[in-house]
Amino acid sequence: MEKTDSGKQKKRKYEELRRQMEAALEERDPAFSSLSNAAAILYQGLERVNWAGFYLLDAGALWLGPFQGKPACVRIEVGKGVCGTAAAERRTVLVEDVHRFPGHIACDCASRSEIVVPLYREGDMIAVMDIDSPEEGRFDRDDQEGLERIAAVIQRAVAAVWPEKSGGTKR
Ligand code: SME
Repeated sequence: MEKTDSGKQKKRKYEELRRQMEAALEERDPAFSSLSNAAAILYQGLERVNWAGFYLLDAGALWLGPFQGKPACVRIEVGKGVCGTAAAERRTVLVEDVHRFPGHIACDCASRSEIVVPLYREGDMIAVMDIDSPEEGRFDRDDQEGLERIAAVIQRAVAAVWPEKSGGTKR
């Protein structure tokens, strides 16, 4: 298949997933309920993924939130691992080969690539969305774009009900 065709196909799939997320998440629902369904939608909807979920920023650290996949480490320091790097640098971090990422925190040894997207509430970072794959180089710029759009839907749904004192820092 042509690269551009597969790119188009990927965009279509992400658009479908984004709509599914929009339909499933209700702004007045508790944040943990929305994040739980969001993790399930990502895990079920994405191919070649072995972990999908959230780490929530509280008291200066990232704490394990709703997820699907193998049990994971509960607390990650901001600045540590892929999640902590995304939180410290306030940007999406895309890792093609986690074995080459200094300080990568291995929760499932099957994970080979990873993408982490921060979520914000009025400029404060409140959480990161983390997705792992057993395939090296699973995520590219199209995946990043698609997942950032989905993250925007999730962040909109949870922002209104997020506790005021989340320990987030201004963007
Ligand atoms: N690999 C992550 C830790 C979380 S697990 O992948 C679920 C990291 O290095 O931050």
